[in-house]
Amino acid sequence: MGSVTKKEEDEEEAQAEVEIWKYLFGFTNMAVVKCAIELGIADAIENNECPMTLSELSSSLGCAPSSLYRIMRFLVHHNIFKEKPCSHGATAYVQTALSRRLLKKGEKSMADLLLFESSHVMLAPWHNLSSRVLKDKSSPFEGAHGDDVWKYASKNPVHSKLLDDAMACDARLVVPEIVEGCPEVFDGVRTLVDVGGGNGTTLQMLVKAFPWIQGINFDLPYVVSVAPESEGVKHVGGDFFEYVPKADAAFLKVSNKNIFSSFPELVHCHFPP
Ligand SMILES: C[S@@+](CC[C@H](N)C(=O)[O-])C[C@H]1O[C@@H](n2cnc3c(N)ncnc32)[C@H](O)[C@@H]1O
Repeated sequence: MGSVTKKEEDEEEAQAEVEIWKYLFGFTNMAVVKCAIELGIADAIENNECPMTLSELSSSLGCAPSSLYRIMRFLVHHNIFKEKPCSHGATAYVQTALSRRLLKKGEKSMADLLLFESSHVMLAPWHNLSSRVLKDKSSPFEGAHGDDVWKYASKNPVHSKLLDDAMACDARLVVPEIVEGCPEVFDGVRTLVDVGGGNGTTLQMLVKAFPWIQGINFDLPYVVSVAPESEGVKHVGGDFFEYVPKADAAFLKVSNKNIFSSFPELVHCHFPP
């Protein structure tokens, strides 16, 4: 009773033989999706009036059909784009709900967040995970880059822009749910400070939905110095460990809840950085 039979053992072995390859090549999902965003595949198909064949797509993107075919085959296999038969016997590609997340702009675009998370800077800390587990007291990000996330961004404007754009991308997904789900919390709020508000996208959306609010976007000076101007939003630079501007209410946005639906194991761990 309860002992593993030879048949079950064989099945587990056979399963492991297949499963292990996921870990060997798990990185390919992110690499191919990043490639698709950089090439602008979803944008090209979205902007075309009808489904695009491989030859149309490759000439529009300026790449070799044979290389593009391999990328498209991978993406179609993962339900990012669909194939559709078209006239004269060719196959054409169409958008799916997932491929629309790869559009460079738009309400549901996740492109900026994907480009940020797949950047060399953000992937390097993952390579230090074992040293953190063994002995390292510093964060994996610091181990990889010598500075914490924010200091590193303050010295690297290109990375800082990538980070701000990624956070804004998350804001575009989350804020509409707040506006729809609990508008009453903004009743009577005349001034609202977003603590660590990045480039001000969150406040920009909140002020648009609740126009009686005066927004104060509070973030580190190097972040607000390049944040775009927006009506109803004042940028204030400073360090929230020292002070936070006075307002009727303070807003602090944390991670998108959907990350925990996709990766429930992350709920109880502090993953890099
Ligand atoms: C994870 S991001 C969140 C951005 C934004 N709230 C959002 O969700 O889109 C954290 C923000 O806090 C800012 N931040 C970090 N340390 C800070 C500090 N000491 N004082 C003010 N802002 C800080 C960063 O520059 C960054 O914009």
